[in-house]
Amino acid sequence: MQTHDATLDRLRTELAGADAGQAALETAVRVLKDSRPSYTWVGIYLLHGNELVLGPFAGKPSPHVRIPLGRGICGAAAAERATIVVDDVNADPRYLACSVDTKSEIVVPIMEGTDVLGEIDVDSDLPAAFGPADRELLEAAAAMLAPRVAARKGR
Ligand code: SME
Repeated sequence: MQTHDATLDRLRTELAGADAGQAALETAVRVLKDSRPSYTWVGIYLLHGNELVLGPFAGKPSPHVRIPLGRGICGAAAAERATIVVDDVNADPRYLACSVDTKSEIVVPIMEGTDVLGEIDVDSDLPAAFGPADRELLEAAAAMLAPRVAARKGR
């Protein structure tokens, strides 16, 4: 497992070599997925109007390719503009199941100022897999991706 800083360094380096847009998001998903064995599924949703639309992901295909704002953990994080950590997804009534093996989840908004551009969603097959270090890592990754997502949206 890579240290937090090593993951961010690798992400920074690989993003510098990636094209803007889709390639950058694919790179981020791959780097984050490879960084921790507990990260079973890593995906990026982009906000289009009032819907989160699934972009690049690593892991099994999800049935939730479009999620309305306010629905699921993903929709809640976008509506609240805040990171949400769920230690036990089966105990959270908001949860939209992606895989029966998933036990915990973290969703981190990708923000530009107060606007939500999208989010990083990570699922784990381990319960309570996401601690403060994961939140810090993924929030730093989201901040690194924000200008690229904004550019992709033509802002
Ligand atoms: N669990 C998410 C849905 C997306 S899948 O995890 C990939 C949610 O509750 O919003």
